[in-house]
Amino acid sequence: MNNNYSGNQTTKTTIFYYTGTGNSLWIARALARELGNTEVVSMVGWDNKQHILESRKIGLVFPVHIWGVPRRVLEFLGQLPAKDAEYIFAVANNGGQVSNTLVQLDKIMQSKGLFLSSGWSVVLPSNYIPWGGPGPLEKQNELFAAARTKISKIVQDINRSVEMEVEKGPLWQRIVFTGLYKISFPHIPEMDRKFWVDKRCNKCGLCIQLCPSKNITMDDGKLTWQNHCEQCLACIQWCPQEALQYGKKTPAYSRYQHPEIKLKDILR
Ligand SMILES: Cc1cc2nc3c(=O)[nH]c(=O)nc-3n(C[C@H](O)[C@H](O)[C@H](O)COP(=O)(O)O)c2cc1C
Repeated sequence: MNNNYSGNQTTKTTIFYYTGTGNSLWIARALARELGNTEVVSMVGWDNKQHILESRKIGLVFPVHIWGVPRRVLEFLGQLPAKDAEYIFAVANNGGQVSNTLVQLDKIMQSKGLFLSSGWSVVLPSNYIPWGGPGPLEKQNELFAAARTKISKIVQDINRSVEMEVEKGPLWQRIVFTGLYKISFPHIPEMDRKFWVDKRCNKCGLCIQLCPSKNITMDDGKLTWQNHCEQCLACIQWCPQEALQYGKKTPAYSRYQHPEIKLKDILR
């Protein structure tokens, strides 16, 4: 798969993405296509010792998880040698509640001596299946159309190296949900206790391959979660049999993957 997008832009851009169901990868690719001269790289498996970062512009595209920055992205920031980058931007995509995520990212980057020049929220169908499916197709298509428009606007801003206050949710949301993020964050790794498989599971092992944190194993023909889950939910959302469940309600909910992102794009 070619992750290099050529074009007229002279300044090279690298966009790092993290994704469970493809929304972030779709945004990263859409940005790259419009920006040109851009490389799209997965945060999972990225090794700063093997990859020399020459880009003057760096983008981070990732989902909002429990009203904040996912652990994988926080850990990635620790190895990002971007001190010489002239422009760093972020896109936090979400199901409608970006809350304090980009403010949190901004503060963490500052503490690492990195400067976040701009940060946008892009709303796409929610993949948080414990709370329901992605919604009707018509509504999903409206979100994709609005996201495309916003992405074009973001590209214009990136091209002009616009510096801005990051986008954020309303104050009440930032207060209440940031509290919930702080309470939940330490418990995310063991939230995998709620996964189970129904009788449709044919032990294909795809969930094992998909898991970015190698958290799923097959022991004596039984899937087991090892309590270092990232809650990206790729396993449940991409299960071809829809046999993977989380809690009591997911048997009734539709699965979601971004329609333009294929399984092979997610398998690393
Ligand atoms: C564990 C988890 C927590 C989530 N928390 C939020 C949230 O706090 N606010 C929100 O708007 N969307 C939330 N979502 C929805 C995702 O941010 C959204 O669907 C995103 O587009 C998924 O991107 P991806 O396909 O790149 O993983 C959550 C999803 C997951 C899996």
